[in-house]
Amino acid sequence: MEYSKTAKRNRTLRRILVRGALQKPRILGFIAVSILLYTWFSYTRDKSKLPPPSYKRLWKWQQDLPQHNLNLPFPEGRTGRYLKFSCEIKQLGWNNVFNELLMNAHLAYETQRAFVFQDYFWKDEYYQWPESRSYWSTSYWYPMQTPLNALISGPTAGGPWAPGDDTPRSVSNKYWKTVCPSRERKRIYTRDIKPAIANSPGDEIFAHWKKIILDTPERCVEIVPAPRKQDNYPQVFDLWLWGSSRILPLWESFSKSPVSQLLDSSPIVKAAIVRNKFLFSPRDRAGWTKNPYDRMMAMHIRRGDFKEACLNLAYWNSTFYSWNLMPSLPDPLDMPLHLGWNTPAYNVAILERCLPDAESIVDKARRAREEYLGSLGSQEKNLDIMYLLTNEKGEWLEEMKKALEKDGWSMIVTSSDLELNSEETDVSMAIDMDIARMAAVFIGNGWSSFTSNIVHRRFIDGKLPISMRFW
Ligand SMILES: *[C@@H]1O[C@H](CO)[C@@H](O)[C@H](O)[C@H]1NC(C)=O
Repeated sequence: MEYSKTAKRNRTLRRILVRGALQKPRILGFIAVSILLYTWFSYTRDKSKLPPPSYKRLWKWQQDLPQHNLNLPFPEGRTGRYLKFSCEIKQLGWNNVFNELLMNAHLAYETQRAFVFQDYFWKDEYYQWPESRSYWSTSYWYPMQTPLNALISGPTAGGPWAPGDDTPRSVSNKYWKTVCPSRERKRIYTRDIKPAIANSPGDEIFAHWKKIILDTPERCVEIVPAPRKQDNYPQVFDLWLWGSSRILPLWESFSKSPVSQLLDSSPIVKAAIVRNKFLFSPRDRAGWTKNPYDRMMAMHIRRGDFKEACLNLAYWNSTFYSWNLMPSLPDPLDMPLHLGWNTPAYNVAILERCLPDAESIVDKARRAREEYLGSLGSQEKNLDIMYLLTNEKGEWLEEMKKALEKDGWSMIVTSSDLELNSEETDVSMAIDMDIARMAAVFIGNGWSSFTSNIVHRRFIDGKLPISMRFW
């Protein structure tokens, strides 16, 4: 009994061992192939795609801003005055977020409170590393964030005000939670304020809020949004305002504000541009130039999914966006309503301004160059470097570049020619904007907030209206 049991166990054991031996090569083979595949995948992946940035150092830098200190004297520190816009738009394109952020900072400045800045929350579709947001990662449950200081510099993002200006410096959302705990906040609800000033000119909206905040004695003020059901755009300065000429009366104070005057591009953006500057250096002797941007035209060409967006704009009779409506600019939009709203002719007319074809683009570049050079008088006249801000790739773009070359553009660089590291890739829209800001001439899309924010910076830099064109 004992013996046969052992024998049986031995037999089983042998069977397992024999089978195992037979399987061993298969297991070894499997392991070998896995290693090969893994190496190959990580090799190709490393080469074609950078990992997402962690911003470890920048997050820490932001957290360590000197104003994040409870012991500072009034109007900073624990007795200081703060203004937080919980109603700020989140998870929309950077440029819709950006213009609102600046105007909120301007309101905080005018009410002598520290602006509480929010980092940039990505709209999922726009985040450049969708594969890092797998169901199994923690980030799947939260929108991805980019520190504000990766995108911009200046007092809005916590930088100093001008010497002698004792307005409290902007603070991070994290510090706000410490310095203004929930029980110490005076909450102002947008639903109580906005209805009285709906459809008012921008300066009246601004003055109305300014008075309310100045009349609020509490140290910590939070602007709380109405629920989405009540107000789809519960911002203090909402999309209805940005998308209409009601914004224009705000230009006077906004453009003079230190929020505009001290706004700067972030070190990450600047570094990327310096690293890629050789792309813009003319190769011929005669073309020598100290500043290639003096000889550059930048064009914002958005295509791809844009046709539908343009037809939507046509349907809603949308005017140009925000600062693109400045009356001094040479290419205003005359709504072609005489063609009959929503007729094919009307849509074609809008598409010509919103989604120009290759031939019109080359034509427009030529005319804009002539008019700009004509305005220079006796100064050195040269405009032959072209930078294309575009999401377009492939044949269409190649054809376009050929046509531009034939038309006298001696050097043509596009967004995808820039070599960028992880952090720079994350903020590539801000890099494109900064090149367009510096270029001698810029042609953009009048309905675009991207274009409008470039126009804002160009006006602040003292660029002339003739150098800011629209399709
Ligand atoms: C656009 O304007 C036309 C003419 O004023 C008007 O008939 C039409 O209803 C408007 N469209 C929309 C969607 O408001």
